[in-house]
Amino acid sequence: MNFELKSLGLDVAAADKSDAAIVLVPNGFKAARDPLSACIAAAQKAEDFGTQPGKQLALYRVPAVAAARIHLAGIGEGRPQEVRQAVAAGVSAFKGTGAKRLLVAFAGAAAQPDAVAAAVQAVADASYVYTTTKPKAEARAWTRVVVGVPDAAVARTAFAQAVATVLGVELAKEWGNRPANHATPTMLGDAAQALAKLPGIQCQVLGPKEVARLGMGAFAAVARGSQEPLRFIELRYSGAAKSDAPVVLVGKGITFDSGGISIKPAAEMDEMKYDMCGAASVLGTFRALAELRPAINVVGLIAACENMPGGRAVKPGDVVTSMSGQTIEILNTDAEGRLVLCDALAYAQRFKPRAVIDIATLTGACVIALGGVRSGLFSADDALAATLQAAGEAAQDKCWRMPLDDEYADGLKTHFADVANVAGRPAGAVTAAKFLERFSGGAPWAHLDIAGTAWRGGAAKGATGRPVGLLLHYVLAQAAKPLPLQPKSVRRKAASA
Ligand code: BES
Ligand code: MN
Ligand code: ZN
Repeated sequence: MNFELKSLGLDVAAADKSDAAIVLVPNGFKAARDPLSACIAAAQKAEDFGTQPGKQLALYRVPAVAAARIHLAGIGEGRPQEVRQAVAAGVSAFKGTGAKRLLVAFAGAAAQPDAVAAAVQAVADASYVYTTTKPKAEARAWTRVVVGVPDAAVARTAFAQAVATVLGVELAKEWGNRPANHATPTMLGDAAQALAKLPGIQCQVLGPKEVARLGMGAFAAVARGSQEPLRFIELRYSGAAKSDAPVVLVGKGITFDSGGISIKPAAEMDEMKYDMCGAASVLGTFRALAELRPAINVVGLIAACENMPGGRAVKPGDVVTSMSGQTIEILNTDAEGRLVLCDALAYAQRFKPRAVIDIATLTGACVIALGGVRSGLFSADDALAATLQAAGEAAQDKCWRMPLDDEYADGLKTHFADVANVAGRPAGAVTAAKFLERFSGGAPWAHLDIAGTAWRGGAAKGATGRPVGLLLHYVLAQAAKPLPLQPKSVRRKAASA
């Protein structure tokens, strides 16, 4: 599926050689003298169509319009959310038709950059089909998607970012959706190695021996119960000077979470193949970075393993030593995400990062707290929290800040180790974050709990690719900022100016 951005009014849109067109009509639309405008005006007059969000009208073979299938959609004020819903409805309406070339045309003057980005992402989202283990599934039919706006120049950057986001989101969906036997830790390592073929990206994958040598006793403890060997993945994107402190993204990569000895109930246990969606979002973000090549350094760390109840599996009550030196009493083997992350967070410190962000399907409690709308955001750093929250809003990939008061850590106290891996049931998402915080070191740290947002269950079961949009927006905003520590040559220039 190829995206193109074009400057075109509805007169030119009518001539565009596409098979299907979604025409987005905002409030205050003024009809010009072209066939599509005439059509919209007539339908509005007859009250068969309106510009309110949710209003739609399907047309077929409108005289003097090249696209046979037309879907008119009201977008109200043209906000990203409104555009997203209108485009999704249009794309769904064309499903099963023979259409291959799609035109999404913004009628009238209003086409804000973020609305254009929303249109691109909505086309991708609504037409995504997982085929890896179902090759007979009807694959996406769209080959070419033209987004037509009155003035393409204003939307170019947002458009390019949206296209890159789609590549990242779809990589994250692919790995999220794969069943655990098609997405083992080894396969995730290979996927990361494959990314290193792209410009600016390097990758290193460690196995059980190296992880043991690093002293990652908590990570190793989780992997013990499985026959699948663990992988520790280190990705690097280099877009700035070597001396420039990187952003470190840490992904939870539990390729299947059975709960271990503290085994989960059978119902919906299959969904625990999604327990590596944090890792998948890191892979997806790197895919997008390779596309956009921003001037920043980013490190991606993924702790990947299965959580299984084998004969050598870690047992409730076992005490292990983490890479940080802190001992941990594993009271519940199903609280494994924090165990693999705590060693990855300790490892992250070696990069002297400007910020560390971990992304994890960490707690069922977060699903109860925030549902599938917003990811949980935890950070003691107000500036980092505000920046991430803003990135989420801008990317339409929202999160919500949760508290981190020290009192929440009280339940993690134990007589048998420095810390226990679980507290009681109350505020389970917060106590998990408090556990992680102990391992976050000196750099500004944030934790995103994506347990509710990374995938959908039920009839529309599938990975969402979240929070690739949020992470990419955040990283790009950091790249745009002047660095706190300038390289010498720049500092000298500034001094002489
Ligand atoms: N991967 C799960 C969290 C999860 C559960 C995500 C359901 C999405 C849906 C995590 O490893 C886990 O099992 N967490 C436990 C923690 C508890 C034992 C303290 C949980 O949330 O029940
Ligand atoms: Mn678990
Ligand atoms: Zn888990």
